[in-house]
Amino acid sequence: MSPEEHSVRIEPHGRTLRVTPGQPILQAALSAGLNLPHSCKSGHCGSCRARLLAGAIHYPDGPPLGITAEEVGRGDILLCQARADSDLTVRARLIASVADVEIKTLPCRIARLTPLAPDVMQLWLRLPAVERLRFHPGQYLDVLLENGRRRSFSIASPPHDSEALELHVRRVNGGGFSERLFGAAAGVGSLGTGALLRIEGPIGQFSYREGLGPVLMVAGGTGFAPLKSMLRHMLETGIRRDLHLYWGARHTQDVYEEALVLEWVRRHPQLKFTAVLSEASAAEAAHHRAGWVHEALLADYPDLARFEVYAAGPPAMIEAMRTHFPRHGLSTQRLYFDSFDYAPDARPPPAAA
Ligand SMILES: Cc1cc2nc3c(=O)[nH]c(=O)nc-3n(C[C@H](O)[C@H](O)[C@H](O)COP(=O)(O)OP(=O)(O)OC[C@H]3O[C@@H](n4cnc5c(N)ncnc54)[C@H](O)[C@@H]3O)c2cc1C
Ligand code: FES
Repeated sequence: MSPEEHSVRIEPHGRTLRVTPGQPILQAALSAGLNLPHSCKSGHCGSCRARLLAGAIHYPDGPPLGITAEEVGRGDILLCQARADSDLTVRARLIASVADVEIKTLPCRIARLTPLAPDVMQLWLRLPAVERLRFHPGQYLDVLLENGRRRSFSIASPPHDSEALELHVRRVNGGGFSERLFGAAAGVGSLGTGALLRIEGPIGQFSYREGLGPVLMVAGGTGFAPLKSMLRHMLETGIRRDLHLYWGARHTQDVYEEALVLEWVRRHPQLKFTAVLSEASAAEAAHHRAGWVHEALLADYPDLARFEVYAAGPPAMIEAMRTHFPRHGLSTQRLYFDSFDYAPDARPPPAAA
């Protein structure tokens, strides 16, 4: 261990990691293959909360929003933001359902790029012939860029069909990754078919749990991607529970795989589907629900006590659900979510620089 590095002992796993100066503890844990609970990686959602049992940490950008003063008082920290000032011992939760898959760093090639909507690209990644990525439906991967930068994208294909990995990438203005993909599709970018990428995955605790009770799913925009993986997994293994998928988007064109979902609905009577358009024109409102997706769901299901809810998409949508759904009887233990936060580019840890 170099003199600047610190050790972090994770209880109850008993694993000890090394963190380089300035490296978030969560990042060190994920790089070491320990899939600790997390979602946004930007200090907002609170999913990576752990108890600091020994040692000292600091937050380089000040106290994160996702932890209350009361939790800080109890000795809790957010692992995605905390940096070690000394050797540490922390107690983190272990999510059994995803603990059995190994996080790998793998090379892959862009096999295909297909526009799904004006600002959404379907990206197919092909792994080397000898490699397979084992993952749970709903998990995501990181695309590793130059200088230690990384971008998170949910895996839209299901585990049983992992020869090529499907991602749904929304174009972000000035986006270091998405702009290059969209440029390539238009013949001017550097990330076209055949380009080589490195990925790290599978990551995350957002994964489908088998059960019998009814399930509500809520996608916001490209939040459809992890739910598509879950739905295809359920269709493959047999749906044994009632399911209702809500997809919130601005306009009809943004519900970019509606035809596919309607085909599933036609074949599987247990599955219902509702698209909810937040900026519906009068013509669109004639055929679709208009408004906010979480409000449409609550109008249909004012009592959520019996349900499990899976949600993925923009932080504001997830936040609205975390605020309102428990007031309608949903147990917070049965609200599973992935918040598509975007962290500012992390500086590479010195060891990798
Ligand atoms: C667990 C997880 C799963 C995700 N899955 C998906 C997915 O399946 N599909 C998908 O499209 N995205 C997904 N995201 C979001 C995606 O990782 C970010 O949008 C990413 O930053 C885009 O990379 P980029 O290089 O194109 O843009 P960047 O270079 O990262 O961003 C350029 C600028 O835009 C801002 N920005 C970045 N993303 C957004 C955004 N979404 N909205 C508004 N401003 C933004 C940045 O802060 C920066 O200022 C996921 C995020 C997480 C945490
Ligand atoms: S607050 Fe750390 S992962 Fe969201």
